[in-house]
This record gives sequence, C-alpha cells and structure tokens, in this order.
Amino acid sequence: MYGHPPTLRYHQAFFRDYRDLKRILVTGALGQIGSEIVPALRERYGVDNVVASDIRMPPESAAGNGPFEFVDCTNFARIREAVQRHDIDTIFHLAALLSAIAEDKPQIAWDVNMGGLYRILEVARQSNCAIFFPSSIGAFGPTTPSVDTPQDTSQRPTTMYGVTKVAGELLCDYYHKRFGVDARGVRFPGIISHVAPPGGGTTDYAVAIFYQAIRYQHYRCFLAAETRLDMMYMPDAVRAAIEVMEADPARLLHRNAFNVTAMSFTPEELAAEIRSHIPDFKIEYEVDPVRQEIADSWPDSIDDSAARQEWDWKPDYDLTALTRDMLEKLRLRLEGG
Ligand code: SER
Repeated sequence: MYGHPPTLRYHQAFFRDYRDLKRILVTGALGQIGSEIVPALRERYGVDNVVASDIRMPPESAAGNGPFEFVDCTNFARIREAVQRHDIDTIFHLAALLSAIAEDKPQIAWDVNMGGLYRILEVARQSNCAIFFPSSIGAFGPTTPSVDTPQDTSQRPTTMYGVTKVAGELLCDYYHKRFGVDARGVRFPGIISHVAPPGGGTTDYAVAIFYQAIRYQHYRCFLAAETRLDMMYMPDAVRAAIEVMEADPARLLHRNAFNVTAMSFTPEELAAEIRSHIPDFKIEYEVDPVRQEIADSWPDSIDDSAARQEWDWKPDYDLTALTRDMLEKLRLRLEGG
C-alpha cells in the first residue's frame, strides 16, 4: 500500500537512469561531421560515454579529450571488439567516401560505404545497438523532381556515392523491419563548417569559398554560377543527427533517410552574400565537368516536411546567418582576431 521503500525506489530510479544512458561509438570521428558531433555528444552524454573512432589516429593535441579507438569499418571483428569493450548501445556511423572521391575510386567507395555500413548493421544486430546513418541529397538522381523534392520519390542516382547511399537507406530499413535494429538517419545536403574540411565532395566549394574569401578576396569555383543545391550549417547538421536519434519512435513514420535542409543557393548567390561583408570579393568559374555533372544530377531544393512533422525538425541558420557566423569564426582562426 505504501509502495516501495524509498531506498528501493531510489535504486530503481538509479538503475533506470543508468540503463537509459547512451554509450556511443562514432565512426569517421575525425572527418567533417565527426569532428563536431563528437564534442556535441560528449557535452550531452558525458565525455567517457562517447568513443571516437577512425582509421587515422587523432592529433596529439586531441589526446586526453576522451576515449578513442582505431576502427576500420570494413573489419567486422574490430567493430565488434570496440562495441563490446565499451558496452556501446548507439553507433553514429559517419565513415564514408564523399561523392567526387567516390567517382574517382568507385571500387573503394563500394567497399567502404557499403561494406562498412553492412558490418556496422551486423554488429548492431548482434549487440542490440541503435544506429545513425547519414544519407544524402546524392541519393537522388536526374529522374528525381528537382524542386521541392518529396520525401518519397524516384531515386535513380547516377554516381557510385548515390548508389551506396540509396542501398544504405534500403539496408537500414531492412535491418529495422527484419531484425528490429533501430536504424535511423537523414539525407544531408551540403554541409558547411569551419572546423574540419570535407573530404572530396561536390558541395565542398561552399566551404572553400569562405577560406579563400578571407585569405585572398578571391575564389575560383569548380561549379557553374547558377548551380543550385541544398546546404546546411554544421550546428544544424549536428542537431539533426542527435534529434532524429532522440525522437519518439511512436511518431516516426519514416525512421530512416529523412530529407533535411536549411537553405538552397547557387555559387553566385553565396558570393553576393559574402560580398556584403567583403566588398572586394571576386568569384571566377572554372568548371570541373565531373563535379558539375554530379551536381546537375542532384535536386535544387528538397522538401523536408516529413522531418518537420515527425520529429519537429527546424534549422536555425539561413544563408545570412551562416555567412555571418562562418566569416566571424574563420577570421578568428585564420587571422587570430
Ligand atoms: N556533401 C556531399 C558531397 O558533396 C553530399 O552529401 O559529396
């Protein structure tokens, strides 16, 4: 009648909190997204509960920042060992080759992007982990409606990167349906950040332009002036990944591969925005046919209403806010003031 004695209630509450605590492994932790999601997750869940991993070793300066494991995602035993040793229950699987590199090395891209995800999902199945998988606007192709691209639509990408992203989306859905693995994800647009550089993507111009604008007031762009693509500032991207993993599963109709975007612009429009801070800034165009073809096969602007409805997705940064913040943060770093 009086319920549990207070001590037992205390222990039960403690036990429940402990069980709810996330023990997270991040693959590709030294990459563009990993470099910023690891500190964000550590702040939220505690430093020791977030294990960074990569196939490179972290710089000396990062030693002591938190646990790190050397993990090659194509090595099943290595992933399983890291997951078991740290009692991992959630994996943010960020290790992958981006679009332009994948076009240059399609065989390696298949091995890393597909082979890596398959092994991560298998470990997740065996060790009962949830997984976050970043898909991309690259999962769309020339037959996809390019304006307000719907959540559910034609996906016939013409790049190896896109092939691995669509197959990855399907594999995540399959592991959820067949084995109950809590696999979730978003389709990221181009991500702009000032911490770690992206590794060989088609949207990288929108990062490089800021460095060159500050250093030389000049940028030679590898995409044509009018190429319109979706983009997002890193703080929004980090939040999207964490929020979709924390979302109430009862509300998720899609669960995986949510369209998310924050803005959509062309190189010319981005240059004009930068010019409002650096009036002498000049942009020239020297189109790289490979990356132009990739960009032309991707949507101009995607519709992210499913993410907004199912887990209240909402970006904070538009083009104006992004440009102001990027220039401010990069100036501090490059000019020291
Ligand atoms: N930013 C990625 C790329 O350009 C797209 O997801 O490859």
